[in-house]
Amino acid sequence: MTAVTMPADLLAKARAAKGFMPDDEGELLHRLAVERLPHGPVLEVGAYCGKSAVYLGAAALAVGGTVFSVDHFRGSEENQVGWEYHDPDLADPVFGRLDTLPTFRRTLADAGLEEQVVAVVGRSTVISAHWRTPLSLLFVDGGHTDEHAGNDYTGFGRWVARGALMAVHDVFPDPADGGQAPYRVYRRALASGFEEVDALGSLRVLRRVAGDAGDPVD
Ligand SMILES: C[S@@+](CC[C@H](N)C(=O)[O-])C[C@H]1O[C@@H](n2cnc3c(N)ncnc32)[C@H](O)[C@@H]1O
Repeated sequence: MTAVTMPADLLAKARAAKGFMPDDEGELLHRLAVERLPHGPVLEVGAYCGKSAVYLGAAALAVGGTVFSVDHFRGSEENQVGWEYHDPDLADPVFGRLDTLPTFRRTLADAGLEEQVVAVVGRSTVISAHWRTPLSLLFVDGGHTDEHAGNDYTGFGRWVARGALMAVHDVFPDPADGGQAPYRVYRRALASGFEEVDALGSLRVLRRVAGDAGDPVD
């Protein structure tokens, strides 16, 4: 039977990594990836410093398969200078701009997951415009504005295979709890061939039950 719990050493690395993924939600991501990786690649939008990628990559180490982690590595709006989630240690000393790629690479190398997780560096709309591979699991955790979250959903959501999963992070039905863009993506998906199969914290897990990989999503 497939192991569904993460080895203690990788769990410790994931928990210690910089990022925005609560422990229990990360472990759910890991279980989803263990289930789905035998059916095709996993793609996450929003790599940041590699925290969620360790949970996903640990699954690939256990069952085989590949995780693609998409990010321009320049941070979202809220990571920029003067904003709530700015981390000055992540600024590139030469260009003065945020650059989380070196930290991402260190996180994955330290976890021994460089063969399992492939960083795809660029703006998500540019990458999704060229993406053609059916996905077994899509994890949406990129920009949290309506523009970016919506583009990630339409750009990569269409490549989720029928029967495969899409997990959306930071879904807050109550505006008092957080921004609404991921929640709007979640609502759109429910009206466009996805049904909810799991929920934990702000993580919502949807299965594609209509359409096939490549068919547009509304
Ligand atoms: C919330 S963080 C991801 C957190 C990560 N999943 C974790 O476990 O810590 C969002 C990331 O999305 C990236 N991002 C935002 N908009 C993007 C875009 N249009 N294209 C590519 N990456 C983007 C940012 O650079 C940032 O690293």
